[in-house]
Amino acid sequence: MSNVEETLSIIKPDAVDRNLDNEIKEMFKNKGFSILKEKKIQIEKSEAEKFYKVHETKPFYNDLCAYLSSGPIVVMVLEKENAVLANRELMGATNPNDAEEGTIRKKYGISIDKNSVHGSDSVENAKIEIDFFFND
Ligand code: CMP
Repeated sequence: MSNVEETLSIIKPDAVDRNLDNEIKEMFKNKGFSILKEKKIQIEKSEAEKFYKVHETKPFYNDLCAYLSSGPIVVMVLEKENAVLANRELMGATNPNDAEEGTIRKKYGISIDKNSVHGSDSVENAKIEIDFFFND
C-alpha cells in the first residue's frame, strides 16, 4: 500500500551561506523527493523560539534559536513515499561526525549546531512544522 507523506525540510544558515542550497535540493530530487513548496526567508529569533519550542528546556536552546535566525534559510515541503523517514535517512545523524557516507550532514555539515539541514522527526510534527511556515 502506498504511503505518500509530506515533511518539512530547512536548509540552515550555514549551508545557505555557502551557496549549497541548490546542491542540497538536487540530493533531495535525486532520492525521489518532490519539492512541493519552497521559500528563502530569514526569521526572527522569537519565531525560531516558537519553531524549536520542543527543545526549550535543553541547554542548547538559546544558541539554536539564535543560530536559526542568524541568516537566510530555505524552507521546503518535501513529498515522497514515507517522506519523514526517508528525509531523516538522507540527512544522516544530527552530529555530522556520526553521519553515514552519502548523507547531507556527512557531506556538508560542519558541527552539531551547523549541521546544514533540519527535517521533521514524525508525521505529526511534519504537519505542525509545515503549517508553521506555510500557513496561507
Ligand atoms: P535539528 O534537526 O534542527 O533539531 C534541533 C537541533 O539542535 C539539531 O538539529 C542540532 O543542530 C541542534 N543541537 C545542538 N546541540 C544538540 C545536542 N546536544 N543534541 C541534539 N541537537 C543539538
